[in-house]
Amino acid sequence: MADATNIIGGRNEYEQIGGGYAQRRRPDPRLARLIAEALGDAGSVINVGAGTGSYEPSARGTVAVEPAVVMIAQRPPAAAPCVRAFAEQLPFRDRTFDAGLAVLTIHHWSDWRAGLRELVRVTRRRVVISTWDPESDGFWLLREYMPAMIERDRQRFPGLGALREELGDIQVQPLPIPHDCTDGFLGAYWRRPAAYLDPTIRAGISSFARPDFDAGLARLSADLEDGAWARKHGDLLEQTELDVGCRLVVAARS
Ligand SMILES: C[S@@+](CC[C@H](N)C(=O)[O-])C[C@H]1O[C@@H](n2cnc3c(N)ncnc32)[C@H](O)[C@@H]1O
Repeated sequence: MADATNIIGGRNEYEQIGGGYAQRRRPDPRLARLIAEALGDAGSVINVGAGTGSYEPSARGTVAVEPAVVMIAQRPPAAAPCVRAFAEQLPFRDRTFDAGLAVLTIHHWSDWRAGLRELVRVTRRRVVISTWDPESDGFWLLREYMPAMIERDRQRFPGLGALREELGDIQVQPLPIPHDCTDGFLGAYWRRPAAYLDPTIRAGISSFARPDFDAGLARLSADLEDGAWARKHGDLLEQTELDVGCRLVVAARS
């Protein structure tokens, strides 16, 4: 593969925004446990859109697939072997792996339907996907400060109905996000609102890679300063986890 151009036609933005990912996006152990449970007793796993190796089962025959060199370079030395490829064209024979895994990645694929068909093709028993439900309301940041972001994310994340069209029968489980989640994705800081004002934190969140969220951030900053955020959302500070719309989707292969 000569460069980072997606074979299906788009560009993978992670070549540009992926620097420092391994520091900002440390796998959260509570989410990792739920993902491991969903994988069940699979003896071999293909992790597509594997990035730096988060949530990858270490004690299994795992193979990672990741297109971005910037991400591959951050994989720990002991991580599973990684093939540089795109979801839409997996270089494996039919039914090679017990399970397929895709964590917070399908919304980045140029053609998520083609990618899921490939994931189904190369697996024997089940496909496990962690994603965001575009029919959810998200959480306060999106609703009150970043309405353009939630609209855009609703366009790029496939809905559960669309996933059913590709995967058939699916089980869908909410993935509640712990208040101190170590994986710094968009919903991770729901109880740490000032974190969204930190450009280094925003750099680890692909939804912030687009312009222009300055006005929303300025409003958030003002609301934190004068206490308006705390008056409206102070009850969140008592909660330990929140459903921000993240879902674990499991499809059994026949
Ligand atoms: C948000 S990161 C998630 C990485 C990892 N799964 C995790 O949970 O930390 C999204 C990943 O999808 C990868 N990606 C983008 N387009 C892809 C494609 N067409 N096929 C496979 N992976 C892709 C990116 O390079 C990036 O590593």
